[in-house]
Amino acid sequence: MKGKVYLVGAGPGDPELLTLKAMRLLRTADAVLHDDLVAPEILQVIPTAAQVYNVGKRCGTKKIRQEEINFLMIALADSGLRVVRLKSGDPLIFGRGGEEIEALHAANIPYEIVPGVTSALGAAATSAIPLTHRHASSALVFITAHQAEGAEAVDWARLAGSGATLVIYMPGSDYSAIAVKLKAAGLSHGTPCAIVSQATTQHQQTHRTTIAELSRAPRLTSPTLLIIGKVVRFADPVSLVQPFVISADCAVDTTANEEPIA
Ligand SMILES: C[S@@+](CC[C@H](N)C(=O)[O-])C[C@H]1O[C@@H](n2cnc3c(N)ncnc32)[C@H](O)[C@@H]1O
Repeated sequence: MKGKVYLVGAGPGDPELLTLKAMRLLRTADAVLHDDLVAPEILQVIPTAAQVYNVGKRCGTKKIRQEEINFLMIALADSGLRVVRLKSGDPLIFGRGGEEIEALHAANIPYEIVPGVTSALGAAATSAIPLTHRHASSALVFITAHQAEGAEAVDWARLAGSGATLVIYMPGSDYSAIAVKLKAAGLSHGTPCAIVSQATTQHQQTHRTTIAELSRAPRLTSPTLLIIGKVVRFADPVSLVQPFVISADCAVDTTANEEPIA
């Protein structure tokens, strides 16, 4: 009899952000294939009898290719095992979850997806940044700074014009290129940005800056996320790493769209 694969989100770093469902599945797994960014405390709940594979491929070191991960996952499930494919954050956000679903579907392996707290939400919560705000941002966009070869290019101008809060995953350590794109796209140079490093862990650092100053931002420890938009200035001042100056061209009209709360 075939086993089953569970594509499970481990959350952004703080082990307490693991869902109860993810915890139950890990405790009853026969095999676990996990990414590098999964907190060690989470891996401790895996039964000692289970097969555990670190299939992480951080920083381009490419220890194991995606095809090999798919092959292993399918082979384990084919032999009747309950397999947990544990990914950092949410399994379907910049985690190649779609490619793994396609492979499982093609191999006729039953699967189930268990969401996790994506790092953008973790970083926003622990930096006290409301990703949406009725006076400042009515839309939210998750973008990756690293695209697959041949993928459709990000339309920065359209995003900049949308007024959405932008969260850039995998921004790398040199923010100059991103700053150039954002300025060219027409975003105000005074637009607030936050770089959040190792979000939700005890090592988290949040550095606030503006698009104008982004290229001079310190290189914080990976993994990092970049949050851009007016909402960044609503963050709790206690968590400011350096004083944040609200520029006039980013001022929020608090009287706009005032509507009674239904
Ligand atoms: C391959 S993507 C995986 C994203 C993951 N599936 C999610 O939902 O968060 C890895 C990127 O996620 C972001 N990331 C993951 N964990 C993070 C954390 N604790 N703090 C900041 N960024 C994080 C970084 O941008 C990192 O380069």
